[in-house]
Amino acid sequence: MAPTDATETTLLIVKPDGVRRHLIGEVLRRVEEAGLTIRDLRMETIPRERAEEHYGEHRDKPFYGELVDFITGGPVVLAKVEGDHAIALWRELLGPTDPADAPAGTIRGDLATEITENLVHGSDSAESAARELKLFFGD
Ligand code: RTP
Ligand code: MG
Repeated sequence: MAPTDATETTLLIVKPDGVRRHLIGEVLRRVEEAGLTIRDLRMETIPRERAEEHYGEHRDKPFYGELVDFITGGPVVLAKVEGDHAIALWRELLGPTDPADAPAGTIRGDLATEITENLVHGSDSAESAARELKLFFGD
């Protein structure tokens, strides 16, 4: 489809628990099924410094150390996802932060059980998407 004014790009991360649990394909399948397009894709173990920058807004929270340990604790899959209202749509598909609150039909609701190991990341606003895509993909 031709890009429209509402075409956006956002960052997707399959977190280390998703990679370990062989859920990469399931996550990407749901993204494509929703009509979004995967524009770039790679696997890496996120360096600690980059993880600290990525989650910088949470620096003063009690869970920050655990969060950074977890996200750097194994390989992740990073993707640049594009589509109509992609930022909000990807957040809808992944569901609320705590899987206990996540409805059936969302990735976290169907496949995750605890708040740290919640499988996936999605940028939460246009500003976050721009910052995070620059951090991980350079543009
Ligand atoms: P993410 O950034 O990873 O996509 O998750 P999110 O937007 O749904 O949630 P956010 O508020 O940005 O929090 C980032 C990650 O920190 C962990 N967290 N733990 N123990 C807690 O109260 C708590 N709150 C947040 C979660 O793993 C969340 O994904
Ligand atoms: Mg977040």
